[in-house]
Amino acid sequence: MFTKSKDGSHESTHTLTTRQGHPVTDNENNRTVGDRGPTVLENYHFLEKISHFDRERIPERVVHARGAGAHGYFEAYGAVGDEPIVRYTRARLFQKKGDRTPVFVRFSTVIHGGHSPETLRDPRGFAIKFYTEDGNWDLVGNNLQVFFIRDAIKFPDVVHAFKPDPVTNRQDPRRIFDFIALTPSAMHMITWLFSPWGIPASYRQMRGSGVHAYKWVNQEGEAVLVKYHFLPRHGEVNLTGDQAAAIQARSFNHATQDLFDAIARGDTPEWEVCVQIMEDGEHPELDFDPLDATKIWPPEKFPLRPIGRMVLDRNPTNYFAEVEQVAFGTGVLVDGMDFSDDKLLQGRTFSYSDTQRYRIGPNYLQLPINQPRVKVSTNQRDGQMAYRVDSVEDGADPHVNYEPSHRNAPRVAKPAGRPHEPAVSGRVQRRTIARTNDYGQAGERYRAFEPWERDELVKNLVEALSQCDRTIQERMIGHLTQCDQDYGRRVAEGLSSRIDESARTSG
Ligand code: HEM
Repeated sequence: MFTKSKDGSHESTHTLTTRQGHPVTDNENNRTVGDRGPTVLENYHFLEKISHFDRERIPERVVHARGAGAHGYFEAYGAVGDEPIVRYTRARLFQKKGDRTPVFVRFSTVIHGGHSPETLRDPRGFAIKFYTEDGNWDLVGNNLQVFFIRDAIKFPDVVHAFKPDPVTNRQDPRRIFDFIALTPSAMHMITWLFSPWGIPASYRQMRGSGVHAYKWVNQEGEAVLVKYHFLPRHGEVNLTGDQAAAIQARSFNHATQDLFDAIARGDTPEWEVCVQIMEDGEHPELDFDPLDATKIWPPEKFPLRPIGRMVLDRNPTNYFAEVEQVAFGTGVLVDGMDFSDDKLLQGRTFSYSDTQRYRIGPNYLQLPINQPRVKVSTNQRDGQMAYRVDSVEDGADPHVNYEPSHRNAPRVAKPAGRPHEPAVSGRVQRRTIARTNDYGQAGERYRAFEPWERDELVKNLVEALSQCDRTIQERMIGHLTQCDQDYGRRVAEGLSSRIDESARTSG
């Protein structure tokens, strides 16, 4: 709080203290022997200040380190399209038209570090924490609707190939395509990524997608498969490589700035939240597996049906406390939702909370940004930086940190509806799924792009592949030709004209 003094300067009514609460009387000079030093060790204020500063950073996210976030809300339509949503899911946040659930959203790039340029070609993360009346629900998605791989065991490989070279510390197309040329499942994602969709103009003008199939479960315990989509009201706008380079020459924070400034001036970003629904099952009539995260569900067969809208209307007050320490995970679902059998999804569900226990600490869920907005009563106690004991605060018996107990202690809840109990049987094995169809949707995507998007895609691929050796180029041309003849032909022609050009300039 400030008051104005007679000379017009501001006088604060707040006193600077140490973290022990001691008033600080001198924040300019260390305690020294004479005014020229040396400095003595009994300088509590200095030691506290500098040693806290020495620990100001936590490990940045192993992927998606560069991000921006904002608070807002999800508003339910109470329906899925024109049907009552209760038919499909009993999740309470969706049921009543007009009900609002607070959210925190973090957008990100994937590969480079915490202050890397936001103009880079990279998938964009789109992670949402819904603070629902039944506890938190996290949806951790991206803007491209699909992914490079379909088995979680390949995730460290795909990330290492895209991350900087362990020797030169530079991202290197020769390493990326060394891996991608041997990974046909990536062709669909690569087709999106090297098109202008690989550089969205801003986070406000970007689509979000949950990518995986999840399940919705109704009161009877019956489930359907569901995919989530967030369609921006400001439209979807993407950049050419040249446009991105021009922006980067002026600012490497343009997406963070755009989001923050738009919210600050009241131009609130908004998305229509839609779902695609499919009956649970293998669907042999489709030429892809519905659980394969390298595929979209064609919208003409599985229409996008609105269930609500999401609005971001409040900037974070502290970047570190909120955006850096927020922790999303694919395992964080509420009643009325369930996991599908997608193998990639199950691997992710282990990885997120695991990394957060390391990155933030075992009590990361006690931080305000991660705390559910409902009463939390667990018997998980202690550990580094334990901030409180949940159930004791509610008046429960502080001697009880186990369950069951005869005393006034947390009891298990009654199920909200019939459990969903899918039957599973099969041989335990290491096998790729049967319907890989790695090229079909990549080719459809190539043909669906507008001509300028196709031109950009070919140009960007030729640029990257021209740095690779012939074996990799040929293998990639082989893959792209299987996606679409014209796609492969144009990249091959682009590469040979590059070779002719360099022969001419070096001759
Ligand atoms: C097996 C596959 C995957 C694994 C093991 C994995 C693992 C991780 C890890 C360890 C983080 C860092 C989290 C943190 O430090 O808080 C992360 C962040 C993230 N991942 Fe994944 N990931 C996988 C696939 C995907 C896919 C398919 C998507 C998109 C649908 C995705 C979207 C994200 C997003 C958006 C973030 C950033 C979350 C934030 O803003 O804090 N990941 N991932």
